[in-house]
Amino acid sequence: MTGRRYLIAGNWKMHGRLQDGTALAQALAEKLGPNGDPRFEILVCPPATILSAVSAVGEKTALLTGGQDCHAAPQGAHTGDIAAEMLADAGAGYVIVGHSERRQNHAETSAQVKGKAAAALRAGLKAIVCVGETREQRDAGQAAEIVAAQVAGSVPEGATADNCVLAYEPVWAIGTGLTPTIADIAAMHSMIREKLRGLVASPEAVRILYGGSVKASNAAEILAIDDVDGALVGGASLDAGSFWAIAQACR
Ligand code: PGA
Repeated sequence: MTGRRYLIAGNWKMHGRLQDGTALAQALAEKLGPNGDPRFEILVCPPATILSAVSAVGEKTALLTGGQDCHAAPQGAHTGDIAAEMLADAGAGYVIVGHSERRQNHAETSAQVKGKAAAALRAGLKAIVCVGETREQRDAGQAAEIVAAQVAGSVPEGATADNCVLAYEPVWAIGTGLTPTIADIAAMHSMIREKLRGLVASPEAVRILYGGSVKASNAAEILAIDDVDGALVGGASLDAGSFWAIAQACR
């Protein structure tokens, strides 16, 4: 972490109805106030159904909101899909693209993820581009190669530190309580940074988040790693206290 402001992002996944979702956002908005904290930014990505309401709760505070996925097109005959422009319209500033649950459950390829990330930029959103290897790929010694290919294939043209964030999330660490060793996270993040040097302007300023079983008890050591610039948090982001405790681990 050299000169980059931490981003602590909560991915609520398919959790949150109007009442509990806005209450969670309210608790975070109160902690942040209008000015937030100079060490970190806090982002929540609720289900699209309550994005507008959650964005309204955070409006006069430093709380940021985002979507969890978007379609590549700005509008059209795509039943059930959501355009990046619609997320922006609902108050979002960010959108997660290429989460492994999308890559796996919806067979999204890196080329499709790149199209979604490009759509985010077109709509004026910041894209959080997710990459990560499976357990089998890590066991086969292919983790770095897989992640490098995902980065090269998913980061859109025109990506900069201002409109693009990377998130390294090993698939086997998501929701399992398992995390890679500190050395493995450090090695992967520095490899991703190296890869970005050939892909984006100002690669040193791009934030690279770690995600996968981040919680208050392991956040400090993970966030202390040089090229870890924040966290993408699933389970522990559903409770204001534990999510806030993760942010407090930022140096
Ligand atoms: P987890 O999820 O924190 O529950 O492991 C992380 C994610 O999928 O973004």
